[in-house]
Amino acid sequence: MKKLVFMLIFLVFALQSNAKEIPAPPKDFVLIKGGTFMMGSPENEDWRSNDETQHKVTVASFYMAKYEVTQKLWREVTGKNPSSFTGDNLPVENVTWLEAVEFCNALSKREGKTPAYSVKDGGQTIVWDRSADGYRLPTEAEWEYAARAGTKTPFYSKKVPGADDVNFYGHYPYQIEQNYFNDEVLETKPGVYRGKTLAVGSFSPNPNGLYDIYGNVGEWCFDYYGSYGVSTGSTTVENPYGTASGTRRVYRGGGWNDFGKNLRSAYRAAMQQSSRAYNVGLRLVLNAGNSVKGTITTHEEALTKTANGKTLVVFYSWSGNTRGVAKEIERQTGFDTIELKMEKPYSTSYNEVLNEAQRDQHTQSRPALKTKIDGKKWAEYDTIIIGYPNWWASIPMPIATFLESYDFSGKTIVPFCSHGGGRFGQSVTAIAKLAPKARIGEGLSVHYSGGSSLPKDVEKWLEKNGVKRK
Ligand SMILES: Cc1cc2nc3c(=O)[nH]c(=O)nc-3n(C[C@H](O)[C@H](O)[C@H](O)COP(=O)(O)O)c2cc1C
Repeated sequence: MKKLVFMLIFLVFALQSNAKEIPAPPKDFVLIKGGTFMMGSPENEDWRSNDETQHKVTVASFYMAKYEVTQKLWREVTGKNPSSFTGDNLPVENVTWLEAVEFCNALSKREGKTPAYSVKDGGQTIVWDRSADGYRLPTEAEWEYAARAGTKTPFYSKKVPGADDVNFYGHYPYQIEQNYFNDEVLETKPGVYRGKTLAVGSFSPNPNGLYDIYGNVGEWCFDYYGSYGVSTGSTTVENPYGTASGTRRVYRGGGWNDFGKNLRSAYRAAMQQSSRAYNVGLRLVLNAGNSVKGTITTHEEALTKTANGKTLVVFYSWSGNTRGVAKEIERQTGFDTIELKMEKPYSTSYNEVLNEAQRDQHTQSRPALKTKIDGKKWAEYDTIIIGYPNWWASIPMPIATFLESYDFSGKTIVPFCSHGGGRFGQSVTAIAKLAPKARIGEGLSVHYSGGSSLPKDVEKWLEKNGVKRK
């Protein structure tokens, strides 16, 4: 009996001290209680990428903002609003990772908190004080843990999210690709595509109380993009933060123009820390209770740059629109231009190519190319302008073959894409992952053939990229 009373007293005390350890979250934040989970996706998850290796991760407790950072808050703190859609309650987008980090620090200072980051060498070096009480970005692991809310399935909800649940490219819910001509088999049918951001909190939150964790805008995470390494089995990785150096930073959750497959909890998107996109913003995090201690230093890997000034245009086109854009670039610049041809070309029938293209993307196949570029010739170019049609929200797989066949160290890739409404989709992320040693310039997306404004659009875009013209 005595023992029981003692245990009860101990339990009450332990519970109290635990409650004391983690105070209630600040306004508009939720407490994400620490724990252990499987990060990444199982090998049988449909549309997974091979960079989603499952491994066991433990994260400490943290507070996460219920909403993505709004334009109102961003403007109050920075005096600017770089977003491509405007409205106080819309999420801020078109912000670089570096700007997101500076924003966290500025907001911390405004509220008398200790900034989490020191930005050095113009952003080449970042020192993160993990015990600082200031605002910060989630790590990739924290983001996925919070999004999953204990689930192991592709999404936090058993039912695949549709346009009534999430702001995304609603025409293309998860698994539409292989069921395009028989979508009645899908539980979640194609819905509306809004083509823009919506006010934060427009839909129901996930079980952790987080709004728009999928869709609306992708959300910058702290981590450099890199391999998770081999599966750690039963060993747990504690509070990971990505690789110490790299060339791309991770963003998660998909945005207003992403397909269902790219909203998955395990899907990893990546971009240069100095790049911006109309569908990428951020969500804030704060330490909770006994936070992780120590400092972390990350370095931007120096991308070497050859500067002999020669530019090559390489493109793949199925129905001629990309070819037309490439011709316009060639007309304005006189650059060497190469069309990629396949050993076994795709079918000329639209219905068949839709199927062949999704099959090749689904299996991450690398179709053989007939076109070969001589190694000596390749070495002469420092800028490679790469053109392709947007296929199933990404690059056609012949472009993946091309990217893996040549050494892109020292080169700058300037992408252009012809599309039917999806602009780049996740194609720039796909290029960024397949050519990690290349700098990526500003892209040009062209609606189908580009219409009468094409010459002007191409001219302005080349100028922005500082590409020398004829
Ligand atoms: C297999 C296939 C998949 C496509 N997927 C998309 C897509 O996901 N998003 C989009 O906006 N357009 C999509 N389109 C439309 C093409 O991007 C568009 O027609 C483009 O202009 C074609 O360029 P091309 O003539 O150089 O082949 C797709 C077309 C095909 C044939």
